[in-house]
Amino acid sequence: MKIVLASRNAHKIEELRRIAPVIDWVIMPDELPDPPETGATFEANALEKARFVFAHTGQVCLADDSGLEVDALGGRPGVWSKRYSDEGTSAANNAKLLAELGARSDRTARFRCVLALVGPGVERTASGACEGVIAFAESGVGGFGYDPLFVPAGSPRSMAELAPAEKDAISHRGAAMAHLDRLIEGL
Ligand code: IMP
Repeated sequence: MKIVLASRNAHKIEELRRIAPVIDWVIMPDELPDPPETGATFEANALEKARFVFAHTGQVCLADDSGLEVDALGGRPGVWSKRYSDEGTSAANNAKLLAELGARSDRTARFRCVLALVGPGVERTASGACEGVIAFAESGVGGFGYDPLFVPAGSPRSMAELAPAEKDAISHRGAAMAHLDRLIEGL
């Protein structure tokens, strides 16, 4: 089955391909602008992105909206995870997160992922989460984004120190993708 991915994030694309190799994932056309994401929730943003790309391609689309919620920061960066720091790079985002948390010991957090699938007459969503804590320094070179600072609950290693298959088995994206059969049922 062919699904257009409403994303240009190479890491997300790689992970979704890895998690569901049975799907013929198609990258959104170059000429399309970046899909808007103006919502206040992961679900609203995922639906907005998938609706936008479906409207322009007429093909079944899947969008991933995801991010990090840090309890001590009242859930921030949340839907602003990509644009948390002024620069918006992973290095700057991670540096800002470490600076905001400082020496605080309450460092619980979770990654969240909402997937939205939009096709002819169909809109479905699925979500997944991964609980953990924010470390005091980065470690590991795998994954992307906040992975070097995120230590999954029960893991001695950061998300960036896990092998790709280990990340997929516990990640928010893997958990959301466990609903793939329901998302594509009947299409
Ligand atoms: P989105 O493209 O608006 O969904 O923003 C996603 C942002 O959340 C990314 O740019 C990362 O900063 C963060 N994020 C989402 N998933 C992951 C992950 O698996 N590891 C690390 N950071 C992630």
